[in-house]
Amino acid sequence: MHHGAKYPDLAGQKVLVTGGATGIGAAIVAAFRAQGAEVGFLDIDDKAGGLLAAENGAKFRVCDVCDVRALCSVIDDLSERLGGIDILVNNVANDERHDAASLGWDAWRRNLSVNLDPVMFASQRALQVMKSRGAGSIVNLSSINAILAPEDLAAYNTAKAGIIALTKTLARAWGQFGVRVNAVSPGWVVTERQLALWLSADAERDWMKQVALKRRIVPGDVARLVLFLSSNESSAITGQNFVIDGGRI
Ligand SMILES: NC(=O)c1ccc[n+]([C@@H]2O[C@H](COP(=O)([O-])OP(=O)(O)OC[C@H]3O[C@@H](n4cnc5c(N)ncnc54)[C@H](O)[C@@H]3O)[C@@H](O)[C@H]2O)c1
Repeated sequence: MHHGAKYPDLAGQKVLVTGGATGIGAAIVAAFRAQGAEVGFLDIDDKAGGLLAAENGAKFRVCDVCDVRALCSVIDDLSERLGGIDILVNNVANDERHDAASLGWDAWRRNLSVNLDPVMFASQRALQVMKSRGAGSIVNLSSINAILAPEDLAAYNTAKAGIIALTKTLARAWGQFGVRVNAVSPGWVVTERQLALWLSADAERDWMKQVALKRRIVPGDVARLVLFLSSNESSAITGQNFVIDGGRI
């Protein structure tokens, strides 16, 4: 349950979230529902997506975003069921680790097809609807790893850096249609997946030494920033990348 600021203009807005079944995406879905927005989301995780949709009344479609045609047709379907798209949150990602020296072409392509390609093609698809409505906001999830570049995430880092460049490019290209495009770059956000796979007690101690705020960043922190960038309260902001990492400076 979300207890942050209320944005009255978000009530009734049509919101589409990619990778919305778990983690930060699920917090974003819940945060928009708590604002009274109509939300559709897609994810490869059928079970978690179904549970979340049943819990908060969002519309869910299972989809593997690596299949761009399927992605576009699911977006069209959700858009039709929602009655349009005002806000698109490009959240889907996969942060699996790999060795840069031995990463094969197929694995590289697959990684970019989860982490980068959907931002381009979901945005293109949503633009058609936003254009006809004369307004829209797109929020893309990048990462501070676009800058920090940890060695075992070559494809992920590349995708996340690409998302920042794409954000600026689309903001420039689509501002004339009233469509804003911004990026959010989280630091380490404590999700169940991070706790299960990467965020050990030692890693967290190290992280805390590097950040100004000695507290965890949780999915709701990121969701609150996404709400602001989606609402009219940020109507003069586009083409920007907002770091939310507790101050790793
Ligand atoms: N958690 C962090 O510490 C952190 C830090 C920086 C940036 N981010 C970014 O924030 C966003 C959300 O992060 P998260 O930690 O919640 O991610 P996550 O990996 O936990 O969740 C992403 C969602 O995407 C779904 N997904 C994965 N592959 C898919 C596919 N092929 N088709 C459809 N759905 C698929 C997953 O099922 C999951 O629900 C991502 O863009 C991530 O890169 C996260």
